Amino acid sequence: MAAARGEFTSRFGFLMAAVGSAVGLGNIWGFPTNTASNGGAAFLFTYLIMAFALAYPALMAELIIGRHARANAVTALKSISPKPLSRYAAVTVGFVGIVTVSFILSFYAIVSGWMMAFFLDPLARLLGLNALAGWLTTDAELRNGLFVVAFMLLTVSIISAGVRDGIEKWASRLMPSLILILFLLILYVFTLPGAMQGLRAYLLPDFSLIADPTLIVDAMGQAFFSLSLGVGTMLIYGSYINKDENLPVVGSLVALLDVGIAVLAGLLILPAMYVAQNNGVQIYDASGGLIAGPGLIVSVLPSLFNTMGVIGLLISFAFFALMTIASLTSSISMLEVPVAYGVENHGVERRRAAMLIGLAITLISLAIVLSFDPWFDRVVTWTTEVSQPLLGFCFCVFVAWIWQRNEVLAEIKRGCPMAENGLFWKIWPFYVKFICPLAILLVYFQ
Ligand code: TRP
Repeated sequence: MAAARGEFTSRFGFLMAAVGSAVGLGNIWGFPTNTASNGGAAFLFTYLIMAFALAYPALMAELIIGRHARANAVTALKSISPKPLSRYAAVTVGFVGIVTVSFILSFYAIVSGWMMAFFLDPLARLLGLNALAGWLTTDAELRNGLFVVAFMLLTVSIISAGVRDGIEKWASRLMPSLILILFLLILYVFTLPGAMQGLRAYLLPDFSLIADPTLIVDAMGQAFFSLSLGVGTMLIYGSYINKDENLPVVGSLVALLDVGIAVLAGLLILPAMYVAQNNGVQIYDASGGLIAGPGLIVSVLPSLFNTMGVIGLLISFAFFALMTIASLTSSISMLEVPVAYGVENHGVERRRAAMLIGLAITLISLAIVLSFDPWFDRVVTWTTEVSQPLLGFCFCVFVAWIWQRNEVLAEIKRGCPMAENGLFWKIWPFYVKFICPLAILLVYFQ
């Protein structure tokens, strides 16, 4: 049967793990470029509303279910469902979540592999290995495949070590380093010519776009992806939180830190793009928009670093270390979802479960590498635009319509005895019951 469950040893440990999950390529890459192409601060403003008014309540739903059930998503949703029909729905939603997050990891590992390759590039150049450096930074199936394997090996080895000695230990080391590197990079980029123009593009709002449906849809998608919602990631991390912990408080800290780091990443990426332009690098694509897709990270920024001489090597190293850390603390939170299920519901030993599931996901990644066009985009769209919002909707329905309200309150009150009279309990139940599901559906059918 199931082995003893892990638990985070402290609030700090949980926060680093959950913020590590939330802060990933979505924050450092997706958020700044979405902002730049959607009217600057008008997007920022909409994103802040979405993050706190929609994503935070949904995050709380997952954390509360998880801590209550102390189990993976399938078992947890089942345990809060009183009727046979809702139990059936619970198992379905839990499984779809496990499959979705596995496919998210399969494309995430490819992009993370690129980050690792670019992280090694300045080292190779420093050692004079220019042919190797060229290979590392040239898009090719062999390179992509090898780095998928390397990245998945790192992910599997952390998850094999368990909640405390794997997830918590590494998140607590890596996340403070990430924040430090981010600050240092911002400070440096701000001293370069062109940075202020980028700051203007980022922070001056173009409010004519604010009612634009694509802006709203993008902002909501960004907020859900960024908080790792809908697939049981936050649910499983919630299941490892101590029973005495005050959930509304830790949940808001996770949301605040996630949003804060996304906003900071914008202070790095957009000024860096305009510094690049100032140094003669092309930053607009053929249609006149800022280059935002893979081209931004694997072409615009590396070209910028190349114009900076020796210091460029150091900056490039720091930047791709940042990206690799952000990816790794997110990928472990994805792999933990199927692994926890295998361990708890099928009695598989953790190390074995991590290896087998990791291997299966690596094979899917490699298949995508080999038929990148059109499979990469398809997998991204199916998982993040179709499956994730629908699952987010289901989680809200479970917590607000299926689970007994007094049990929800009892769970919140465990670490927060005064919850019943607090602001959270006045607003949140209404939100997850009506506003969140409606808003998700509305945006979904856009
Ligand atoms: N939130 C992470 C990011 O911004 C990615 C992530 C981690 C994720 N776990 C997830 C996304 C689960 C969706 C579902 O990059």
